[in-house]
Amino acid sequence: MPELDHEHVAIRTGPRSGLPVIVAVHSTALGQAVGGCRVWRYADWRDGLTDALRLSAGMTAKCAVAGLANGGGKTVVAVPEGTELDPGLRRRVLEDVADAVASLDGTYATGPDVGTSPEDMAVIGERTAHVFCRPVEQGGSGDSSPATALGTLAALRAVRHRLHGTPALKGARVSLVGLGSVGLRLAGLLAEEGAELLVSDIDPAKRARARELGATWTSPGEALTAEADILVPAALGGILTGDVVPELRCAAIAGPANNQLAAEPVADLLHERGIVWVPDYVVSAGGAINALAVELRHESPEEARVRVEAIEHTVTELLREAEHRDVTPARAATELARRRLDAARARRPVG
Ligand code: PHE
Repeated sequence: MPELDHEHVAIRTGPRSGLPVIVAVHSTALGQAVGGCRVWRYADWRDGLTDALRLSAGMTAKCAVAGLANGGGKTVVAVPEGTELDPGLRRRVLEDVADAVASLDGTYATGPDVGTSPEDMAVIGERTAHVFCRPVEQGGSGDSSPATALGTLAALRAVRHRLHGTPALKGARVSLVGLGSVGLRLAGLLAEEGAELLVSDIDPAKRARARELGATWTSPGEALTAEADILVPAALGGILTGDVVPELRCAAIAGPANNQLAAEPVADLLHERGIVWVPDYVVSAGGAINALAVELRHESPEEARVRVEAIEHTVTELLREAEHRDVTPARAATELARRRLDAARARRPVG
């Protein structure tokens, strides 16, 4: 069994909702742990726990590589199959989440994630101050997906530069899996840039949007293995399995979906095939970077945007270092995160 490397994991049956509420605080070495609240369906709540553990560790790495003075955490509410989340139950879930966050006394602050919105953050905000991305009218920084999409675009420029010697995405063949709130915005930005877009989603209703953007529509399975310069995973995690690697026909993979690798060694398999994989937590940092800049540092939207766009530089440096040392970008990123965490621990000894 792997060791527990989380500082604190709280699991409780929400007293109002009766649903499992899991808050995983992975690390506060760099500062307050941050990470969104995922409200998602799981066949077994333990799968939700596994997700919370992995996603919170990902947030630690995300913040460290992005140079943020924050640690990583995550909240997961595991909704059982067949449970309908009507507005009443949804509110009770959010109140349970708020109390769980409040009980951590500020060591962790939550935010939106898959299955939650700025309006949901406002409900959480009724009971705790430790919440990001409430609607702008209520003093929050609002929807984080535009910044996540912008940060992903910045990462794609760095990848394009590495592949073809130019950051311009015009004419780049991009295959996008997932047209959720981030995927759809990213597709719009890529269309503006003149990329050659292949897009997909499990929801066929998204097809009309694809047409408006001038993108070619296909199934998620086809998009995954399509011939492309860059494959962009923008849906749920686990899409890159050992079995899928031999089928891939892309030169590089960079997308905002969290936990893209079904297992860590898949990064090595990709490297062996000569496919450049940029770790998801580096690509998707824009949402958190923006929220923290605006809400913690009180920076203007323009200042925050500059920080989000700096993801291009971060990815360029990671790819350069990985190539120079002939290691995977995943390894280069993990080591960078580790160096920053170790330095912070040395500055702030425990006890
Ligand atoms: N859920 C997003 C992420 O995981 C965005 C976010 C999290 C924004 C926490 C603010 C705070 O990065």
